Amino acid sequence: MSNRTLRQFLQSLSSAGVTHLPFVELPKPVARPMIAIKRPALQSAVSAAQSSSPLKAPSDLARDSVQPPPALPETVALCKESLAGVDDKADALSRLRTLVAACRRCQELADTRTQTVFGVGHPDARIMFIGEAPGADEDRAGEPFVGAAGQLLNKIVSACGLKREDIYICNILRCRPPGNRNPLPQEAANCREFLDGQIRIVNPEYIVCWGTVAAQNLLGEDRTVGKLRGQFLSYGSAKVLCTYHPSYLLRQPAAKKQVWDDMKFFMKDMGVDLDGHSSKSP
Ligand code: URA
Repeated sequence: MSNRTLRQFLQSLSSAGVTHLPFVELPKPVARPMIAIKRPALQSAVSAAQSSSPLKAPSDLARDSVQPPPALPETVALCKESLAGVDDKADALSRLRTLVAACRRCQELADTRTQTVFGVGHPDARIMFIGEAPGADEDRAGEPFVGAAGQLLNKIVSACGLKREDIYICNILRCRPPGNRNPLPQEAANCREFLDGQIRIVNPEYIVCWGTVAAQNLLGEDRTVGKLRGQFLSYGSAKVLCTYHPSYLLRQPAAKKQVWDDMKFFMKDMGVDLDGHSSKSP
């Protein structure tokens, strides 16, 4: 109805003696659904890659789109300290843990975590284990590798004649990704300062990367763990062994044979011959 027609209609009502109209509630407009515009995280990197050759691998594109955050002055200072022994290392780790607990660089992870999962183990360990990210059990407990994958990891550790408390264990991420999704490249970049801080403090001789996510992120590699395993690579002064993740072994028990071969190779370099040892494969 136009304004003019409405005015004429109201005037006719008024001349007929109508002074009040009943209140009619109009139906509420249905909220328009929010349309999520899916913008692939890699879009800018993809268009940059399209305009330049040679073509880049998808993992290079993912890395290109990542912005490493500026380092915290406290971490920089901490990493410059000379650490004389186990007590200094324990103290430095405890200060780094406090910085991690306050971190909110990855908003989604900070909003959904129960707590940060920093790392556990001997501050002066010869061996560091690096996994992917905390799962639900680790998020609850505040300790890495305590769930089903952690139980299997513990079996591998004792089959090697080692003790969990003699190893330093941490992850690429210190917060649980919701639904246990893989860490995003930006999340790994945000957490890298803390991982590198832990490596710098503990200064292990050996690092074992459990699974492709740990291996690729630590080493900046594109190859999968299947290609990286069975040899030593290096990170700083540490010898790095990559092998299958215990969660993968829970799904594919046949791969335990390869992990056991990797463990024998690794332990032999440490001076322990597991073939001449009575330990059984986990
Ligand atoms: N898987 C990981 O990679 N890390 C953990 O801490 C637990 C499960």
